[in-house]
Amino acid sequence: MKKNVAVIGAQWGDEGKGKIVDLYSSQSDLIVRYQGGNNAGHTLVVNGRKTVLHLIPSGILHPGKVCLIGNGVVLDPLVFFEEVETLIQSGVLSDAPEKLIRISERTHVILPYHRKLDRLREERAKGRKGEIGTTVRGIGPAYEDKVARRGIQVIDLLHPSLLKEKLERSLEEKNVLFKGLFQTDAASLQEVYDHCLKMGELLKPYIANVRSILNQGIRDKKTVLFEGAQGMLLDVDWGTYPYVTSSSTVSGGIFSGCGVPPAAVQSIIGIAKAYCTRVGTGPFPTELEKTQPELAQEIRRIGAEFGATTGRPRRTGWLDLVLLKYSVEINGMTGIALMKTDVLDGFEELKVCTGYRLNGRTIDELPACIEDTEGVEPVYQTLKGWKKYNTRAVRSKNDLPAELQSYIRVIEDFVGVPVVLVSTGPDREETLQIRSPFDN
Ligand code: GDP
Ligand code: IMO
Ligand code: MG
Repeated sequence: MKKNVAVIGAQWGDEGKGKIVDLYSSQSDLIVRYQGGNNAGHTLVVNGRKTVLHLIPSGILHPGKVCLIGNGVVLDPLVFFEEVETLIQSGVLSDAPEKLIRISERTHVILPYHRKLDRLREERAKGRKGEIGTTVRGIGPAYEDKVARRGIQVIDLLHPSLLKEKLERSLEEKNVLFKGLFQTDAASLQEVYDHCLKMGELLKPYIANVRSILNQGIRDKKTVLFEGAQGMLLDVDWGTYPYVTSSSTVSGGIFSGCGVPPAAVQSIIGIAKAYCTRVGTGPFPTELEKTQPELAQEIRRIGAEFGATTGRPRRTGWLDLVLLKYSVEINGMTGIALMKTDVLDGFEELKVCTGYRLNGRTIDELPACIEDTEGVEPVYQTLKGWKKYNTRAVRSKNDLPAELQSYIRVIEDFVGVPVVLVSTGPDREETLQIRSPFDN
């Protein structure tokens, strides 16, 4: 029987999850997003044509595949309909998109006051210690409301009196913040309520019991692909807290985020770039900006490292094996997809981080305290680059340059799981699959 596969970002996001989910979707029946929201930007390139998805699962380019949005996601209805419209315009979706895209009844909704709160907080924190550099999509405030038990779920949009009651309770507190702390206009209950009713009407055909679809699918021997958003190091528990997103990006988030049991996932593929990037603030031990700004910029230029959601330049640095190993352990990753190897094509030598120094001691894990994390110095192993070799053209592992093969071996030996895929370019075709995650 084919395995169900999870695709998880093993670094700070933007590793290339979208490309791999698109690739693996051809072998899957159901593709599900289980956390995050439209802070995600997943890029798919097929025959040179680029699609960026923020909310709809990256399986959507494959005709007939069912794409599910789980309860663990926070959904901005405006962004959702914009994305559906774009996919209709580009001919990907036809006139009945609700047959292919299903949204859980329990998914929490991002409302205008969440976006506003996110923006006001970011503006207030600008340049100060503690600034997160969020995507300003209202993600944090929506998750806050969820755990504070005052969130609006998709199903509430179809229940007017309950909806009004919940909104009243939520806005009571929000408006104290808007008026008192941020000295701005209060949110109008009537406007928000009208917006919610309108969104409810439009969302109605998409709303489903996603948990049940998934579990029934699994009983019927359908293959499920779980699509992670963000990256492991942005996880609210295991990332570089507080410089993280507000959801569980680790594999553990799958089970609460779409209502399947742990046994439903048999293969967990960690997506990792052959180097590292990060958008927003927060610690990044192997970042090159401070020590070798020109090199940092060169990697950014070659890798086109600009955010798919906000367009911000991504910070760049060497591959951090300590963090990759941590990621493999916490997520139970069974293999690594090594992305963007072509970006390192021209380099004479490459470095990988194999430990840290902190206060005169060598350590092999990031400390729990953020102050200590900010102070660690990476310990590097230097490896030979594959210089002018053009890896984009390579289609078999044996044809990879010897230096890249040995780079891969160093990674495998350090983290303890195999590299199952090497990506040599953004296009679906520019991929070297070494081992299928669906096979036993
Ligand atoms: P995601 O958020 O993890 O899906 O990743 P993003 O889409 O935000 O960022 C990854 C970027 O790298 C996108 O622009 C992809 O098209 C691109 N990409 C993916 N794999 C490769 C690769 O192997 N080589 C190069 N040069 N670009 C790649
Ligand atoms: P994908 O799925 C990279 C980062 C933001 C910020 C922090 C918190 O494309 O890999 P948030 O808006 O979530 O409250 O911001 O998390 N961040 C991402 N960085 N890729 C992403 O998603 C991200 N989603 C959030 O830059 O530092
Ligand atoms: Mg992205």
